[in-house]
Amino acid sequence: MALRNIVTEGDDVLRKHAREVLEINDRIRDITEDMVQTMRAEHGLGLAAPQVGILRRIIVIEMDGQLYRLINPEIVETRGEQFEEEGCLSVPGMIGRVRRPQYVRIKGFSPEGNPVEYEGEGLLAVAFCHECDHLDGILFIDKAEQIHSADQAAEDEE
Ligand code: NI
Repeated sequence: MALRNIVTEGDDVLRKHAREVLEINDRIRDITEDMVQTMRAEHGLGLAAPQVGILRRIIVIEMDGQLYRLINPEIVETRGEQFEEEGCLSVPGMIGRVRRPQYVRIKGFSPEGNPVEYEGEGLLAVAFCHECDHLDGILFIDKAEQIHSADQAAEDEE
């Protein structure tokens, strides 16, 4: 296992379409585990493989003590709308408000190769959408309104 470097905005890899994983093997499992360790080390809520320079369709999210690992994730249902602030480890220091569905149902495969399906509301729904966007080369700043620096937010609250 190894921590991976997080690619930041300006690197082309974040703008490319990630390829489907055709075979879930030890290499894919190693990448997924490295992504989990890297996400935790960076105190992120989620991470997509392009953010560590790998153009494969893999995402990880950890929220409320639950770890979600999805290979070839696909959002199959959405409902409602929310408009909340989000940030991204690949766009350090920036925050913006993005319109997202309030509810998301997502399907994919576990690192063991089993089909998995999750539902998420609120922040978890945001995370599913945000990480899947990364697989299509989309960053939250492409969709965000009221983009500002995280420092500014902290100052405003003082
Ligand atoms: Ni992100």
